[in-house]
Amino acid sequence: MDTPLTLLNRLRLLLNSNRPVSPKQNPCYWHTDLHSHLIPGIDDGVSTNDDALLCLRQLADWGIRHVVTTPHVSQDWFPNTHETLLAGQTTLRNLIAEHQLPLTLEVAAEYLIDDLFLDRLRAGNLLSFGQPRHVLFETGWASAPHFLSEIIFQLQTHRYQPVLAHPERYTYYHDDLTPLADLRTAGCLFQLNWGSLTGRYGKRVEKQAQKLLKNNWVDFIGSDLHRPTDLPSLEKLFTTPAYTQLRQQPLRNQIILPKQIIGQ
Ligand SMILES: [Fe+2]
Repeated sequence: MDTPLTLLNRLRLLLNSNRPVSPKQNPCYWHTDLHSHLIPGIDDGVSTNDDALLCLRQLADWGIRHVVTTPHVSQDWFPNTHETLLAGQTTLRNLIAEHQLPLTLEVAAEYLIDDLFLDRLRAGNLLSFGQPRHVLFETGWASAPHFLSEIIFQLQTHRYQPVLAHPERYTYYHDDLTPLADLRTAGCLFQLNWGSLTGRYGKRVEKQAQKLLKNNWVDFIGSDLHRPTDLPSLEKLFTTPAYTQLRQQPLRNQIILPKQIIGQ
């Protein structure tokens, strides 16, 4: 089920492959992390400023220069509002400035597909990142979501670019890649958790992550960092064969870097 690379993807691949990288000094050559839970106390991510600082400092040490942190937004568990999210953004930006970390940061969200999400979608009121406006979403763990193609269409109608978070983690897609292929055909992009390549979520998820790599289906890589104890499993990536494979992937992370960082 290999997907032919488009000309644009080939150019991205060339750009990534030729970039000099020292795995020890700058392993995150993609420079933007666009999936994490680093606003203290508003979801199941970090709970204190100190833990947020530990995570941000490590990302910066690995070569990340821009963080899009993405707290959960869901009706039943984490009904975060724009106000709570933007207040958290201010907290983290102050922390970054106070400790002079070489990072810029913005907040978006990881939306669960539910009624709250649909209400905000219809109102055109979703937090996004980059241009076009990327919206990160996840689906439930128990069973394959219904009407996902309709939701992709609705996002596109509102001029959002849909990005499915960690497609490799949904067990209901493990035995048959056809639904994922259909999502890509519909224009949905995929974000892989890099911990999936280090066994962080088990063997089946690792195997599925390998299949996504093989098919050139990884548009974005993300840490999905929740707390400092996640960091060792993320660090494993840089010494695995999967890291070499990742470098063959036409990642789009760099296209959402702020202009002032690209110019550095
Ligand atoms: Fe997440």
